[in-house]
Formats: sequence, structure tokens, C-alpha cells
Amino acid sequence: MAEVKNKQVLLKDYVRGFPKESDMAITSSTLKLKLPQSSKGVLLKNLYLSCDPYMRGRMSQRESYVDSFKPGSPITGYGVCKVLESGDPNFNEGDFVWGMTGWEEYTILNSTQGLFKIQHTTDIPLSYYTGILGMPGMTAYVGLYELCSPKKGEYVYVSAASGAVGQLVGQFAKLLGCYVVGSAGTKEKVDLLKNKFGFDEAFNYKEEPDLDAALKRYFPQGIDIYFENVGGKMLDAVLLNLRVHARIAACGMISQYNLEHPEGVHNLMQLIVKRAKITGFVVGEYYHLYQKFLDMVVPGIKEGKIVYLEDIAEGLDSAPEALVGLFSGRNVGKQVVTISHD
Ligand SMILES: NC(=O)c1ccc[n+]([C@@H]2O[C@H](COP(=O)([O-])OP(=O)(O)OC[C@H]3O[C@@H](n4cnc5c(N)ncnc54)[C@H](OP(=O)(O)O)[C@@H]3O)[C@@H](O)[C@H]2O)c1
Repeated sequence: MAEVKNKQVLLKDYVRGFPKESDMAITSSTLKLKLPQSSKGVLLKNLYLSCDPYMRGRMSQRESYVDSFKPGSPITGYGVCKVLESGDPNFNEGDFVWGMTGWEEYTILNSTQGLFKIQHTTDIPLSYYTGILGMPGMTAYVGLYELCSPKKGEYVYVSAASGAVGQLVGQFAKLLGCYVVGSAGTKEKVDLLKNKFGFDEAFNYKEEPDLDAALKRYFPQGIDIYFENVGGKMLDAVLLNLRVHARIAACGMISQYNLEHPEGVHNLMQLIVKRAKITGFVVGEYYHLYQKFLDMVVPGIKEGKIVYLEDIAEGLDSAPEALVGLFSGRNVGKQVVTISHD
């Protein structure tokens, strides 16, 4: 039975404020590459790890829809993995899967619940299952299609628009014939939105001292759909620019994740004035739609109608820096960490 050194990323202790690389440690333990007897789980080799903003919440001690990380234990998150051994007849050695795994080279899962088998084809990179074909892709799909019911010609605004979720929301809305504007935090990202992802307009929110004025400039007729990724002052400004019967998909509020005291929202009255709807959601409740989503998005990728940008960090040693980089906008596109290519 082979014994390997298993490099891991641990959370040292619960985090307050902005997370830092030094909140995590790279260590190594020894692992027997064998499932325990009568296990119904899987032994996985981790190939690609996903850096996701919700992981910040798991670094704090608090109650939420997903458990906090355990200080001193490896971080867990979405990843793409190869099955080395399986105690579940639905998974075989050599299968590629995506789902929750450890931030380490090898992971033993006691159960296969929540793992998706990848129907791998060589024309689609496996790393895409951390993003466009995984959790963030489903998030874009659910928030836009299921919650906002977009119609041709409607005015759509997306914040954090060049990231994993935002770049897809904008493209999906364009495919439906909407007018789409995105915001992001650098000139490079704004250029990508307009020239690579096909948004009609884009702006750098960091260069806009008056967000309400900026939105009035890009949406003189108002906003029908807001895909909310950032919260805070941006949400307040959007509320002042809604059209009648507007819909807001409350997907994330990254500007609030590192604050000890969340900012207040002042313009909620506008929901009444504009008979508008704001709906919070968690993608995990919608995975029953996964096949329907794949049927829509995979042909779009193959036909070149949907493009996708990843920001790839090489090796587990680079994972802490990649993860904390989400909160300063260091990532350009979906942040992935490569552990192994096969
Ligand atoms: N509800 C769900 O089930 C669900 C699932 C997945 C993701 N989400 C949420 O969706 C949002 C986007 O996630 P993602 O995976 O696509 O991340 P991402 O956009 O790839 O990365 C995060 C980006 O947020 C921006 N950002 C960071 N701090 C900010 C701040 N204070 N104000 C404004 N923007 C800030 C940065 O871009 P800039 O350079 O543009 O600032 C950064 O690159 C997050 O809020 C996340 O929590 C929700």
C-alpha cells in the first residue's frame, strides 16, 4: 500500500477583517493511498481547486448555510479531482469528478454525496468544472434565468462583472438580447468586459465618486435587472435607478464580507415605489437544474458563443495568496489553483 506525503493548506485560526496569506499554513502529512475497509466513499487526487468569495465566511466562527472551517484542519472547497479508488459502485477508478474536496493533494471522502461525475471530452478543459461548468456557472444561470426571467431588450446591470460569475451573467444576458452594462475595479477588467465578453458598456466603479450619477449615465432609462455581487453603496445606488417591476438577484455582497459592522442600505423604499423584487439565493438549492444548464452552456462554449477567462495560480503553495486576492480584486477572471494536471 503506497504511502505519500500529502501537502495541505490549513486555516490557522478564525479570521477577523480582511484575510491574509499568513492566516493559512502549508503543511504536510503522511497518507496511505487506500480507502478504509467497507468505505462507501472515494480516494481522490485533487487536480484543480476553486477560490470562491463565500470561503471568507467559513474562515469566521459564525452560523450560516455552510459550516465554518476548523482551525488546524485543511480548508475545504470546490475542486476537480480524479478518483483513485471508490467504494461507491457509481464511481470508478479513473473517473473525473467535481464537488467539495480538501485543499490538499489527496483527499479521502467518506461519502460521494454532492460529487458530480464529469463526462470529460478533450475539447473542454477540466479546470472549467471549477467555474463555468461548475458552481459559479450554475450561480450565474440560476440568478439570471430562474430568478430574474430576463426578456429581450431589458436593461441588465452586473457588478463584479469580470469575475467567475459576472462574466457569465453578462454573456447569458447578451445571448437573450438584453442591453448589458458591467462594473469592475480596473481598466484592464473594463476593457475585457467590452472587448472580450461583449458587454454593451462597462465602467470602473473605483473611479466613480458618485455611483448614482454613473448609473444614470449608463442607464438613462433605468435598470430592469441587477445581478448583485457586491452590496453596500452599489446596491444603494442601484435602488435609485430601478425601472418599474425591476428584479434584483441577490447573489453576493463581497464588499461586506470583511467588515465587522455591515454598511446600512438607505434606499429600500424604492422597492415599493418601483414594485421591484429582490431575491436572495444559494446555488446549492438548484443543482437539480445542473443537466439543463449543461445542455445550454456546453454547446455555447463549443460554438464559441460563450467565452471564458480563468486566472490560474500554479501549485498548492500559491493557494493562500490566490484566495485572499479575491478581496482586493487581484484575480482577472475565475481564480483557479492547479494542483496537478492529471
Ligand atoms: N449565492 C450563491 O450561491 C453564490 C455562489 C457563487 C458566488 N456568489 C457570490 O457572487 C459574487 C461573485 O463571486 P465570484 O466567484 O464571481 O468572484 P470573482 O468576481 O471572481 O472575485 C471577486 C471579485 O469581487 C470584486 N471585489 C472584491 N472586493 C470588492 C469590493 N469591496 N467592492 C466591489 N467589488 C469587490 C473584485 O473585482 P473588482 O476588481 O471588480 O473589484 C474581485 O475580483 C460574490 O459576492 C460571491 O460571494 C454567490
